[in-house]
Amino acid sequence: MNAPIKKIVLPVAGLGTRFLPATKAIPKEMLPVLDRPLIQYAVEEALEAGIEDIILVTGRNKQVMEDHFDHAYELEKILQEKGKEEALEISRSMLLEEGRISYVRQMRPLGLGHAIWCARKLVNGHPFAVALPDDLIKGKPGALKQMVEAYNELGGNLVATMDVAKEDTSKYGVITPGARKGKNIEVKGLVEKPHPEDAPSTQAVVGRYILQPEVMAYLEEKAVGAGGEIQLTDAMAKLIGEQPFHALEFEGRRFDCGSKLGWLMANLSMAAEDPYLASKLKELITFQ
Ligand code: G1P
Repeated sequence: MNAPIKKIVLPVAGLGTRFLPATKAIPKEMLPVLDRPLIQYAVEEALEAGIEDIILVTGRNKQVMEDHFDHAYELEKILQEKGKEEALEISRSMLLEEGRISYVRQMRPLGLGHAIWCARKLVNGHPFAVALPDDLIKGKPGALKQMVEAYNELGGNLVATMDVAKEDTSKYGVITPGARKGKNIEVKGLVEKPHPEDAPSTQAVVGRYILQPEVMAYLEEKAVGAGGEIQLTDAMAKLIGEQPFHALEFEGRRFDCGSKLGWLMANLSMAAEDPYLASKLKELITFQ
């Protein structure tokens, strides 16, 4: 039996420079897609997958996320007095039992690998999931649930992948694929942001992972990789051959909400599912 996945690390310390000035005073993870901030989508996806402990790796100016997952007493009191039950319920919907959300600070922006390493004491020797909240994935079931189901069968380490255009491989971690069984692909190698000419395949890693705790020892080495940063991809690559390592070509659509286009598309895609918003969108498009 594979040890169950009960913990998730959500790295949320990034500066969000591609969204300035919107992200000058608010974290990029609090940008809404329709009515919910990005961080909430990631937490909801984790809960759907049966994950219990949420670990946020934060940085300076990220405190507002703690408030988002806490009571807003003044607001709740006013809504209660006014009898606005529905709004009250929505404002309380993200209140997990105390102790289930933890926060740890990444004190220096040294890369994704370093951010994950900052959570090592909270991960505490258990296998764990990672989700990058910028990567919003619409899937039924959600991508993390698909990952947990695949992990229960395969064990070891797992990355979510999707096929991308060859010229786009330089934006992602890319796998060297081995044998494929349905949606599961054996991972023989991993490289971070290769030049398209050198990319070992077009299977690109998106921001969902299930990792064994041994990855922390490799992150501890603090080897500097692509872009001068401590890369999660490099530490994961060292596990290949030591532990099972697979990619799951997940089902669903991924939006890169760290970019304006991806964020806009995510909003439009969510709006298209709401009959009222969809009809208004159609009007807008037809009249222009
Ligand atoms: C990170 C990872 C990369 C992965 C990507 C998915 O890169 O380092 O391997 O493919 O997320 O979104 P970033 O986009 O943070 O540069």
